[in-house]
Amino acid sequence: MNDSHPRGGTRRLAAGRLIDGFGRMHTDLRVSVTDRCNLRCTYCMPIDAAFKPRAELLTYEEIARVVQVAARLGIRSIRLTGGEPLMRSGLDELVRQLVAVPGIDDVALTTNGLLLAEQAERLRRAGLHRLNVSLDSLREDVFEAIARRRGLDRVLAGLAAARAAGFAAIRINAVSMRGLTEGEIVPLAEFCRREGFELRFIEFMPLDAEAGWADDRVLTGRAVRAILERHLGALVPAASGDPGQPAVDFTWGAGSGRVGFIDPVSAPFCERCDRLRLTADGQFRNCLFSTTEWDVREVLRGGIETGATLDAAIATLLGDCVRAKRAAHGIGAAGFERPARAMYQIGG
Ligand code: 5AD
Ligand code: SF4
Repeated sequence: MNDSHPRGGTRRLAAGRLIDGFGRMHTDLRVSVTDRCNLRCTYCMPIDAAFKPRAELLTYEEIARVVQVAARLGIRSIRLTGGEPLMRSGLDELVRQLVAVPGIDDVALTTNGLLLAEQAERLRRAGLHRLNVSLDSLREDVFEAIARRRGLDRVLAGLAAARAAGFAAIRINAVSMRGLTEGEIVPLAEFCRREGFELRFIEFMPLDAEAGWADDRVLTGRAVRAILERHLGALVPAASGDPGQPAVDFTWGAGSGRVGFIDPVSAPFCERCDRLRLTADGQFRNCLFSTTEWDVREVLRGGIETGATLDAAIATLLGDCVRAKRAAHGIGAAGFERPARAMYQIGG
């Protein structure tokens, strides 16, 4: 890595790492590429969502520039999110740019799968490493109750296309909501075991847009696990390779495959958090639940800095963002403040 800089002023920062006030080193950057989506999931978006004008979104060149700077500060993995990232045209072009950034060794995508059948092959060719597909139910009526649009068939076609394109370790993310998804758990598990997909259950977080979240709407990972074990037998704890990884993984006792639980509400993993975020409109965030943002679009477009000094300004801003990170999100604690923006505006 070449951290040399003509004026030397940023050498220390550039050679440094993104370590916050609690000693957490950040190696993962979530990049949202759009706030648009072809679904309207209740836990993420309002039914009448208003989207940012295109001009307010970072261009692929701007995103790539930010990632290059972040990589010099120790970011190693990138996850593209949205909104629905495949709604943004030519996403494979961005993937191609990001996999080529020195220091970046993992580029992943989280998608709802609706447009995956058309794009899987292209994404694979561009060098995308990993794929997460969000799928909460295998029943069209429940899918539609959650997503407020139809699309289950297209998601299933997208999964098949992704596998045919050669993606390994495709993961399915399912959000659990009390009173709504209990009946989906076992069918999803059986489907994933049969098809060889890794399954992750995620607790419903207070990031919806219509104030529908409440404590008692959270179906905990523990409750999901109890349902699974009742129907499918005991789960066996599995070692996780990656310490920053929030999921607690298990293998199926009587068969191959894995199932994991991401329990941000009932068992927060903030002390191990290694993530930062970049919103589609160019704001750095140090947490899903940040109430502050750092405006990198302004830095990119302000015209004050160019070349290496622009990189230095981006690095400084990202450093400021990291140093302001709080110890924990505090969901459930007195004084917890929901972020002003909802999931689709932040990036999952
Ligand atoms: N709580 C938990 N998970 C959510 N997601 C979106 N909104 C929420 C929420 N409020 C999930 C999506 C997707 C990922 C990006 O985040 O289902 O899997
Ligand atoms: Fe779209 Fe994903 Fe939000 Fe659902 S959760 S509305 S699929 S961005």
